[in-house]
Amino acid sequence: MGKAQDNKSASRLRRWSRRLLKIAIYGISGVFVIILILITVTIGWRPFFGPKSRALVDRKFEATEARLARGQYLTEGPLHCFQCHSEPDHATPGAPALAGTKGGGRIWKEEGFPWLVTPNITPDKETGAGNWTDDMMARAIREGVGHDGRALFPLMPYKSFSHLSDEDLASVIAYVRSIEPVRTDLPKTKAPFAFWLLGNVFPEPLTTPVPQPDVSTPVKRGEYLAQVSDCAGCHTPRGRMTPTIPGMEFAGGNVFGQGDKTVAVANITPDASGISYYDEALFLQVMRTGHVKARRLDPVMPWVYLRNMTDEDMTSLYAYLRTLKPVSHVVDNTEPPTDCRLCKQKHGYGDRN
Ligand code: HEC
Ligand code: HEC
Repeated sequence: MGKAQDNKSASRLRRWSRRLLKIAIYGISGVFVIILILITVTIGWRPFFGPKSRALVDRKFEATEARLARGQYLTEGPLHCFQCHSEPDHATPGAPALAGTKGGGRIWKEEGFPWLVTPNITPDKETGAGNWTDDMMARAIREGVGHDGRALFPLMPYKSFSHLSDEDLASVIAYVRSIEPVRTDLPKTKAPFAFWLLGNVFPEPLTTPVPQPDVSTPVKRGEYLAQVSDCAGCHTPRGRMTPTIPGMEFAGGNVFGQGDKTVAVANITPDASGISYYDEALFLQVMRTGHVKARRLDPVMPWVYLRNMTDEDMTSLYAYLRTLKPVSHVVDNTEPPTDCRLCKQKHGYGDRN
């Protein structure tokens, strides 16, 4: 053992550590480049800087009698705004808004999202929408960007509401501005980073006018209602990364709730695994009572609001649902949840698909 030997092993060690450092640098840069490429080809860079949004404009929707009436009908009926923007009254079937909380918003703790808050949209100046402009409301409802420029958590069905005609949107806003102000003390939504990032992907500015819908036939009238009332949005399964699974429109499977208290959205296509056995009378009965014969529907299905639709709208909706492509997809909430390869979620009889 001499000095020369020591020097030799020291320089070997130096050489090794240099080599290791090189490998580490190449490795880290490689991973970094792959991440950059992945972000570029998937969600793009936009979400890191916030949602796509347009500048606000100065406009005011005049609250005519006709608009207030139409706005009330839409808001308290097909669009079911207060299912989410109020405290639910669980003691009443269908969980309508608890008296005195209509439009006041709430925290989504019992649904498993303790960080999610539906804002107060009543005209209260301090805790609600009293100081927001009409265009702030318009942009939030159809384009998913809040009064403060943030992306709204996509539980707010703004993609479905983006089909609302300009005139129907004006009616909704005129009406929401006329309801009783409610004072609430709610924090702001604070989504975990991944949700925040993903939420920024979806908002899309609407820069062209949306004309009145063609309601010349029951099927066309029903199609408009199915879009704006979010039957399409809620009853079409979402993949884990994609907004919807193509070819499975209205076929059910989305799961709400948490733990052992979950409910999956039903298949409402005219397939044997869906509601092919319905007739118009049964459809009306289900939508108005929240019961399919003796089976009670979970209040996630907003029948308590949807039931306010007129007979003409309701039968048109039914006529439209009958024209849908039948999709074979068994969803049964009376059975224990199992993995489903079709909708990639876990619901009753998922293993039969
Ligand atoms: C299925 C639940 C749901 C329904 C139905 C719903 N909302 Fe929302 N709404 C939300 C959620 C969730 C947010 C955003 C929470 C967040 O990201 O802070 C939101 C946000 C908003 C905002 C943005 C407020 C702000 O801070 O700028 C407005 C305005 C609004 N909703 C109005 C409506 C109106 C009007 C309707 C009916 C036409 C409606 N919402 C129906 C869940 C809902
Ligand atoms: C917020 C989500 C949501 C929206 C919006 C929604 N539904 Fe549902 N719907 C559900 C859920 C969840 C169920 C299953 C409830 C259960 O089994 O207890 C359901 C069940 C149903 C059923 C009963 C099917 C059966 O026989 O089991 C029908 C019919 C139905 N929905 C029609 C509609 C129509 C039409 C619309 C639009 C006007 C609509 N739903 C909007 C969530 C929703």
